[in-house]
Amino acid sequence: MENTLSTTTDKVFLYDVIGAQFDTIGSKALAVKKMLNDYFPKNDYLRRLGVCVFEAEANLAIHTIHGGSIEVMIFSDRVRITAKDDGPGMKDMKKALTPGFSTAPESARQLGFGGGVGLNNIKRFADYFYIESSKKGTTLIFEVWNDDDPTTH
Ligand SMILES: Nc1ncnc2c1ncn2[C@@H]1O[C@H](COP(=O)(O)OP(=O)(O)OP(=O)(O)O)[C@@H](O)[C@H]1O
Ligand SMILES: [Mg+2]
Repeated sequence: MENTLSTTTDKVFLYDVIGAQFDTIGSKALAVKKMLNDYFPKNDYLRRLGVCVFEAEANLAIHTIHGGSIEVMIFSDRVRITAKDDGPGMKDMKKALTPGFSTAPESARQLGFGGGVGLNNIKRFADYFYIESSKKGTTLIFEVWNDDDPTTH
């Protein structure tokens, strides 16, 4: 098991994302950023995290049947996000991770989604990235480390 997943924390926050509701995408990412501001009052760090949570939220809203949940675990030196849903899952993980590939419906594309860059954005900003997917659902785990904390070096 990865060392990064072995630490424990008592600071866990859970956010629900409704499926097939596109006009509120971003509201949970904003709530997460506001909540984290008390713990990490650093603009650049929160900006990176905010982008990642936004992309995870958008994927739950656009690509799932019932939406899903975003769990935020806070450690002194990092934040771990776990986004989970119960399907339909990715048909082809390799394609899903290819920049530009998207199965977003026309209704989401009209709102500017569907560029096929969300997961790659998360990969770029995150210090730890894990994804698994089956018909039963998708689990995405990523961490963004606060590089100002000397314990991460
Ligand atoms: N939770 C999910 N469940 C099922 N499929 C998903 C999920 N998240 C992503 N995908 C699949 O992976 C593809 C790529 O996702 P990614 O976030 O990179 O791009 P996108 O959502 O299509 O467009 P963008 O994020 O640029 O608006 C999606 O088009 C979809 O097919
Ligand atoms: Mg996306």
